[in-house]
Amino acid sequence: MRLILLGPPGAGKGTQAAFITEKFGIPQISTGDMLRAAVKAQTTLGLEAKKIMDSGGLVSDDIIIGLVRDRLQQPDCQNGYLFDGFPRTIPQADALKNARVALDYVVEIVVAEENIIERMSGRRVHPASGRSYHVKFNPPKTPGIDDITGEPLVQRDDDLEETVRHRLSVYREQTRPLVDYYSSWAQSGETEAPAYRQISGLGTVEEIRERVLQALKP
Ligand code: AP5
Ligand code: ZN
Repeated sequence: MRLILLGPPGAGKGTQAAFITEKFGIPQISTGDMLRAAVKAQTTLGLEAKKIMDSGGLVSDDIIIGLVRDRLQQPDCQNGYLFDGFPRTIPQADALKNARVALDYVVEIVVAEENIIERMSGRRVHPASGRSYHVKFNPPKTPGIDDITGEPLVQRDDDLEETVRHRLSVYREQTRPLVDYYSSWAQSGETEAPAYRQISGLGTVEEIRERVLQALKP
C-alpha cells in the first residue's frame, strides 16, 4: 500500500495515519514529525526549521525533498509507505512524480476551517512518536499521559490560534492546488496515476477510520 493523506492542518491526517500504518504494516512518512525530531535534536536543519515552523510557514522545497528522498532509501519502505504532510507544494509533488515514486491512492480528508481551530487548541501530542490526542474528542486514558509509553503529552508550539490561522492560509495558497493536481492526474487515465479519493473528516475518529478503509478499496 502506497498512499498520500492530503488535507489541511488539523484534518486528522496524523490521527488516521496511526491506524493505516499499523493495518498495512507500512511506515508513516510525516515530514512534520521528521522536522520536529530535528528541532528536538538541535541539528542545523532543526535550528533553521524551528523558526519557520513556529511562524506557520513552509520549510524550503529543497530541504523537504532531500529529507524524503533519504527516507525512501530505508529498507522499511519496500512494502509501501504513507505520506502525511507531504507533498505540500506543486514542486514537491513534481519531485515525487519525476522520481517515479509509486502511489496507489491519494486520500483527501476534507474539514472546514471553522472546525479546525477547535481541534488544534485541544490537541496534545506525544513528542517521541508523534501520536496525537484531543482533550475532548480523542482523550488519552489518563489526562496528559501517552497511552502506550506513559510519558507526558505536550502542546505543539505552532498550535497557537494566530499561528493556526496563518497555517490555514498557507494551506489554501500552496497546498490546496494539489487537490486539482492529483484529481486531474487520476482522471487522465495514465497507468501510474494514483486513484483519488475524497472523504469527509467530520465525525468521530472511528467513523473517519471506516471511511478511510472504504476509500482504500479498488
Ligand atoms: P505538520 O506536522 O505536517 O502539520 P499540519 O499539516 O499542519 O498538520 P497537523 O499535524 O497540524 O494536522 P493533522 O492533519 O495531522 O491532524 P491531527 O491528526 O494531529 O507540519 C508542521 C510544520 O512543519 C508546517 O507548518 C511546516 O512549517 C513544516 N512542514 C511539514 N511538512 C512540510 C513540507 N512537506 N513542506 C514544507 N514544510 C513542511 O489532528 C488534529 C487534532 O484534532 C488532534 O488533537 C486530534 O486528536 C483531533 N482530531 C483528529 N480527528 C478528529 C475527529 N474526527 N474529530 C475531532 N477531533 C479530531
Ligand atoms: Zn500531523
